[in-house]
Amino acid sequence: MAGLLERYKNYFPITEKTPLKTLGEGGTPLVKLHKIGKELGIELYGKYEGANPTGSFKDRGMVLAMAKAAEEGAKAVICASTGNTSASAAAYAARFGLKCYVLLPAGKVALGKLSQALVYGAKVISIRGNFDRALELAKGASEEMGLAIVNSVNPYRLWGQRSGAWEICEELGFPPDWMVLPVGNAGNITAYWAGFVQYKNKGKIKSVPKMVGIQAEGASPLVSGKSCPNPETVATAIRIGRPVNGKKATWAVRVSGGFFSSVSDEEILQAQKELASKEGVFAEPASCAPLAGLKRAKRDGKLPKDIAVVMVLTGNGLKDPQAILSRQEEICEIDGDEAQLREVLMR
Ligand code: F0G
Repeated sequence: MAGLLERYKNYFPITEKTPLKTLGEGGTPLVKLHKIGKELGIELYGKYEGANPTGSFKDRGMVLAMAKAAEEGAKAVICASTGNTSASAAAYAARFGLKCYVLLPAGKVALGKLSQALVYGAKVISIRGNFDRALELAKGASEEMGLAIVNSVNPYRLWGQRSGAWEICEELGFPPDWMVLPVGNAGNITAYWAGFVQYKNKGKIKSVPKMVGIQAEGASPLVSGKSCPNPETVATAIRIGRPVNGKKATWAVRVSGGFFSSVSDEEILQAQKELASKEGVFAEPASCAPLAGLKRAKRDGKLPKDIAVVMVLTGNGLKDPQAILSRQEEICEIDGDEAQLREVLMR
């Protein structure tokens, strides 16, 4: 299958020298969520980014950022991450033959993501501090040591991530009314907005959706308008207090007519369970903040009826098994015995 760089060659800043490598990123399923959509009174879809090669939307931007770093002669890349960026950077660095350094907040990265960074061969450095501090350190090191930074301060990352918006327009045949995303460092919501604007300017779509950004209550600087020095949430992917793309995202949300709102950890985990048990779609906690946000908008009378809404389900649920297992009621265990099994099945 052609990768994103081949498919959207005319929409990306690609030259003859850009190495067009791929791991098969993009082309993820747009899943119609019949039951939950009906309950909310809307036409609801989930863009299942967990189907990307490293299990998150980061691969869309990473393939372009890494290709440009390789084209420009970089030998090594660096990033700070709450987990998914590090997994993606490590995989694409391996693919493009570059060395990779990742800075992670100690003890706050989901196990699946940490395992990925390790197995793909990145040098993992655990920082006693939060993501915001790790990003400052990564930026400093990139300038001082000449390493290419592949966080969303790298413009190619966001450019690559626009492709999610393009795929949605192509598959639906029209842009949705609302586009709802979880917001951490605020890169993805900015990228989607830019993607829709680019398609509108090319005459491919007539309007841009309202951009809606959902944060976790304990890490919601774009809702409060103030940076958050000690962000805390079960959705570790978006445990960020000072989003580097905050200004751009605020602009995108405002000009599109959308809004930011926040949801509690309890609402996030409830939405995760609902998405999996009602629709068969397993996404990590951060990815379920949009559904929690829509449910809250419905309760507050802010969700119009019958509109088309797409949520970006940013990461695969398997990334963070502990989020499920730590809340799971005890699993029924029996001896290898027919009578005991029969007794359980009849309950
Ligand atoms: N959802 C998931 C699963 C994420 O991993 C992230 C960000 C977001 C949402 C928020 O996207 O930052 O563009 O607003 N993860 C970054 C990382 C910070 O390091 O993996 P954003």
